[in-house]
Amino acid sequence: MLYECNFIMYHHRVTYHFGECSDPGHHAAIKAIAAAMINYSGLTMTGLLYFYLCFGVILSINAKPSAVRDKKSFFSFFALVDFPNELCQTDDLLVGTCYTEWECKNLGGKDRGSCAAKFGVCCVFEVSCGDVVRHNNSIILSPSYPSTFTDTRRCDVTIKKLPNICQVRLDFVKMTLAQPSNTACVNDQFFVPGFLNIPIICGENSGQHIYIDFTENNELPLSFVTARVSVERVWNVRVAFIGCDSPERAPGGCLQYYKGTKGYVSSFNFESTLENIPRHLSDQNYAICIQPNPGFCHIRWTPESFELTGSDGTAMRGEPCQFDWVSIPNAYKEGGTLSFDRFCGTRLNTIKKSPESVSLISATMPFTLRFVTNAKELPQSKNRGFKMKYEQLPCVV
Ligand SMILES: *[C@@H]1O[C@H](CO)[C@@H](O)[C@H](O)[C@H]1NC(C)=O
Repeated sequence: MLYECNFIMYHHRVTYHFGECSDPGHHAAIKAIAAAMINYSGLTMTGLLYFYLCFGVILSINAKPSAVRDKKSFFSFFALVDFPNELCQTDDLLVGTCYTEWECKNLGGKDRGSCAAKFGVCCVFEVSCGDVVRHNNSIILSPSYPSTFTDTRRCDVTIKKLPNICQVRLDFVKMTLAQPSNTACVNDQFFVPGFLNIPIICGENSGQHIYIDFTENNELPLSFVTARVSVERVWNVRVAFIGCDSPERAPGGCLQYYKGTKGYVSSFNFESTLENIPRHLSDQNYAICIQPNPGFCHIRWTPESFELTGSDGTAMRGEPCQFDWVSIPNAYKEGGTLSFDRFCGTRLNTIKKSPESVSLISATMPFTLRFVTNAKELPQSKNRGFKMKYEQLPCVV
């Protein structure tokens, strides 16, 4: 007699699925073997286990989990494949998670190609307007993505808190909304209703990210509003859940959180390619934090672009910076003695009216840069905002 049994076991969530096993007697046998497998010390239960049992005969369960073969030509008594649920990327650059075909379907994902030597599928959790985000690394896509759209809409998405999750990171893989009008987001807006500490953004923000903490009500609402002007909008926002004890978790009060000894930060809408219109946004008040590396005591900020207030091409610092400013705690010029917390104008310097920008150093931890702006700018201003390089500097004794 020939039996073909497909048996899939998900150890990490203890789900058992029996496929077309033609003899019910074998269910019991397989179940017993599965139990033995779980106890079997040679198995690492990181991912999922995938069994094919043929002929209704199990010759050995002492085999090490190494027999990886082509699914289609499989014709042995026993095989076991164990692969981790890692991130994968589809041909059209969407991010997914590597699962078996069955698990992906069961979780409500879309099979967008293969992974794990073709044993898994790159399973993408796509979320559209009105949907709820329930899976790590889901992607929120704009209507008709990857095409752009031009009409007026309101698109709400809710992120549901999962157990032991305290925070989410939103990666704006693609985020193109209408430009602000004199720095104010009067047409399009991305915002988090009820979260006044999260600034409203618009314009070009592809490549930016934000962190949001869950509150007691276990739901995070996100809103994308497009209105009035007919311009091309598109977004692809990845949602990563961050565990309460995770080292990935950003400290409280950090809207953006960067790691690594060096990198770049910029104000929202800095990447707009439109010339001669204000690019930074109004009503901002948030912190960009840099995770201090062990053995590093200082941070150096070097402006690649710095244009916040005024048009006379000089630096302002300290008390005169009352409308829009960047604050770097106790920042001083290399070799200098003066330190200030606030900087504005169109150059970055501790020297008032200096026509040149310099690097500033701060030893205050945690390493942060705060950006504050008031309501909209005058129509003639050309405030571009900032793009700054950061470099952590080793402690010197
Ligand atoms: C979600 O995915 C990210 C990226 O792969 C990972 O760092 C994080 O630990 C995952 N979160 C959970 C709760 O598994």
